[in-house]
Amino acid sequence: MPRTDTVTGSDNHLGHYPFEWLGPHAQNKYAATTEAINSVPSTHTALEGPRVQYEDVMSDDKSLGNWLNLIWTHGFCFVDGVPVNPQATQLLIERIAFIRHTHYGGFWDFTADLTFKDTAYTNEFLGAHTDNTYFTDPARLQLFHLLSHTEGTGGDNLMVDGFAAATQLRHENPQHYAELVKHRHPWHASGNDDTCIQPSAMAPVFSMHPDMNSMYQIRWNNYDRAPKVNWSAEEQSSWYDAARHYNEILQSKEIWTKLEPGSALIFDNWRMLHGRSQFTGKRRMCGGYVNNDDYISRLRLLKCGRENVLNNLGNIRDDDQNPYHYF
Ligand SMILES: [Fe+2]
Repeated sequence: MPRTDTVTGSDNHLGHYPFEWLGPHAQNKYAATTEAINSVPSTHTALEGPRVQYEDVMSDDKSLGNWLNLIWTHGFCFVDGVPVNPQATQLLIERIAFIRHTHYGGFWDFTADLTFKDTAYTNEFLGAHTDNTYFTDPARLQLFHLLSHTEGTGGDNLMVDGFAAATQLRHENPQHYAELVKHRHPWHASGNDDTCIQPSAMAPVFSMHPDMNSMYQIRWNNYDRAPKVNWSAEEQSSWYDAARHYNEILQSKEIWTKLEPGSALIFDNWRMLHGRSQFTGKRRMCGGYVNNDDYISRLRLLKCGRENVLNNLGNIRDDDQNPYHYF
């Protein structure tokens, strides 16, 4: 029996911490990085569901470019008229680019299943989060298509614009916004016995683009956040105050959507947080991820033309017509 220390939480739950774990997680004297924080995330328009037709995006490159641009602008988009089967859904994702494989596989098609030790594979409520916080390069797009839901209720999908919530946080309390930019966290995915994925470097909740002077990526998932040693008790306290504030704003901005067979939902996993209400019955969903680089490549080329893209490689100047401003 390993020696443990026991902590009683404010809700009276008991946490048991083995000494083997406590040793490596003792705080050290690392100073937190201080960075200049003067940027505003680029929020776009209010969250109202843009929609495109499956037939259009599958058959016409101009429609495909417009679809990708809607995802860029709004953070998400519905696709209507999708044939209600996994094959057509997979082809829809592959119309953008190849599907991003992870330790869970590539294109997925499942009913509630506890084979995978990950909360996404249960029927429980899932609060707003981003996926892949534990990857060095989180997937950029995610698509969901509900194929069927029988013998039960619930399972509505939740979307929150994380950039808009960050803007509100910055206006209400700039110091709280700064906390979520400043402190980088060791994220991880360790649910399966043969896997423990961690990003190459710790990453903050709000990642600021080093060239574009704006936020470009959010990592928000309590289940994936590992213990952090390189901060003081005071810094921890300040960070948790900021995280609580951001969480309150996120909850106030949640938008719930009932997915229907035939309508797929695709969203920007670097900007939008997603979640799901608890459900009963049998529910079959399918979907997949697309990498950032492949999505942005397709978007730039379709919206701006190859010659224009090539002429503006590395052009960080502020210009709406500049293809490099899709990033
Ligand atoms: Fe998720």
